Amino acid sequence: MSVDDTSAPKLWTPPRDVVRKATVKDYDALRATAQADPQAFWEEQARTLKWYRKWDKVLDDSHPPFYKWFTGAKTNIIQNAIDRHIGTATQNKLAYIWESETGEVRTLSYFGLAREVCRFGNVLKSMGVKKGDRVTIYLPRILELPIAMLACAKIGAVHSVVYGGFSVESLHGRIEDSESRVLITADGGYQRGKLVPLKQIADEALQRAGIVEHVIVVRRTKEPVNMEVGRDYWYDDLMNMPLATRGNGEPCPTEVMDAEDPLFMLYTSGTTGKPKAIVHTHGGYQVGVATTMRMTFDLRPEDRWWCAADPGWITGHSYIVYAPLILGATSVMYEGAPTFPYPDRWWRIVEKHGVSILYTAPTAIRGLMRFGEAWPNRHDLSSLRLLGSVGEPINPEAWNWYHRVIGKGRCPIMDTWWQTETGMFMIAPVPSFPLKPGSGTRPFPGITAEVLDDAGKPVAPGEEGRLVLTSPWPAMMRTIWKDPDRYVSQYWSTFPGKYLTGDSARIDEDGYFWIIGRMDDVIKVSGYRLGTAEIESALVSHAAVSEAAAIGVPHEIKGSAIWAYVILRAGFTASPALNEELGAHVSREMGPIARPERIEFVNALPKTRSGKIMRRLLKARAQGLPDGDISTLEE
Ligand code: PRX
Repeated sequence: MSVDDTSAPKLWTPPRDVVRKATVKDYDALRATAQADPQAFWEEQARTLKWYRKWDKVLDDSHPPFYKWFTGAKTNIIQNAIDRHIGTATQNKLAYIWESETGEVRTLSYFGLAREVCRFGNVLKSMGVKKGDRVTIYLPRILELPIAMLACAKIGAVHSVVYGGFSVESLHGRIEDSESRVLITADGGYQRGKLVPLKQIADEALQRAGIVEHVIVVRRTKEPVNMEVGRDYWYDDLMNMPLATRGNGEPCPTEVMDAEDPLFMLYTSGTTGKPKAIVHTHGGYQVGVATTMRMTFDLRPEDRWWCAADPGWITGHSYIVYAPLILGATSVMYEGAPTFPYPDRWWRIVEKHGVSILYTAPTAIRGLMRFGEAWPNRHDLSSLRLLGSVGEPINPEAWNWYHRVIGKGRCPIMDTWWQTETGMFMIAPVPSFPLKPGSGTRPFPGITAEVLDDAGKPVAPGEEGRLVLTSPWPAMMRTIWKDPDRYVSQYWSTFPGKYLTGDSARIDEDGYFWIIGRMDDVIKVSGYRLGTAEIESALVSHAAVSEAAAIGVPHEIKGSAIWAYVILRAGFTASPALNEELGAHVSREMGPIARPERIEFVNALPKTRSGKIMRRLLKARAQGLPDGDISTLEE
């Protein structure tokens, strides 16, 4: 391929030495074995982990879609993520190499991590947190975020991490819905050199959410913040109190959990205005995330793994926190923006810390690509051996740039398709497998997927349809928190017995899967998942707005950008100032990522006779495309 070639190859075969060193050399053969007996495959994987008590049954499918995995087993993911490393050589290995936006580096060994997690576990217990209680975590990208998550897991509490980029109403809604009595936050965080006043946002959310009894505040920015006596405590003060270090030897025993006990809940957007909390468990989840990371990224002891996502999203939960720790990996974690202070920050980090596997999203690649090759070319990226992509389909230009400029044409790109709900990779290659740029290749061993037409029949090769998963997998979501009916209706009812992903896809003649995009009202903005209904309800919560519609339109870097259409209430007049104010309002309520790129004032919205907004029509018109079928349009 020539240097200035911008088109990706149709098929990329991995170099011979990659295949020679790969753990999985014949992916199709492994898939065939797993396919013949998926339960035996997952059981074999589960045996590589520690359990307090082994399972009676691998899969209990007696009440579908409420599947249970490794029933009868006793475990705690902490047993595998931390405890089993203590007393082995891994305890001296770095679990995390963290770099702040200003370049400060902090490292934490497995031994050090174990101690911090123990102490914080005791702090949580001293606040009355018990097994099964929910704890909301609202932190910037700092080491206290994994520490807090792990401490919750250790004592059997259920963590609910709210992404630090979310704002007042998003945080309030999630605290209330999860009924968290403890909130863990920070005085603030840094993004692009600017201060994000997390405690102030949390204070506003807490005014609306009366349920929180204790707030633990990590000192990050050292800016003055309001501390309410009797409610708010500094993290450092608590960690240094005798209660946190009591007993020295084993100061905070790991709670023995049932395999099916909940580990965490994570809110994500769907088709209604109310975000739903996806529930994941200890047992199956640990098997799923560890197996996928070990095989797809072929993790080795010498690797330095960098998943550049935020721990606040599923990618971070599974592949910054749990899977890498279970596998005893060393992870790089970076606090800030990819372009701070210059667009070579990421490449500087790869060089400085010798990153060997980089896992990120197409939107980040496109964002860095526009600054040109000179920035990465200034750095020695020879430590890289594998690259990864997640969050949205990777377009050929971005694939090619990532492959050629960052991977120097040597590194396979693992395009992993999955969801908050799936917990682990569902469609993904392994390094030895021939790639087609833009395709996640095949379902992971033990996973079965199909592409169906509206009647539920598999479509012909090359044809577009609905992507479904046709059998259960260990890291699958177990339910929607407090809403099991919605779990059934949304995911398992369109095609009974099959899990509806919400994505459209096609399978080509060679059996490669190609994801096209969401079929529902979910917008992927820079890889973040937002529901149109949530954005609309944020707009309508402003006094001037009577009705609103939000759509996603293609965007060169973000993948999709949000456009909103607003009908004003009587007495309000459209103006640039009001337009600006509405944008700021959405940002304040939900977070800057949800701020529409464009807001248009209109007198009417296209609706069906049943009163549903026809977003499809708005979308077509926004892109200058034909209207399509408008027979159900009311006027
Ligand atoms: O549309 C698919 C897209 O992201 C959705 C899931 O979003 P979320 O739950 O936020 O999880 C993102 C990280 C796992 C999917 O329904 N998606 C995710 N990965 C890919 C993708 N689309 C294409 N290719 C991918 N590799």
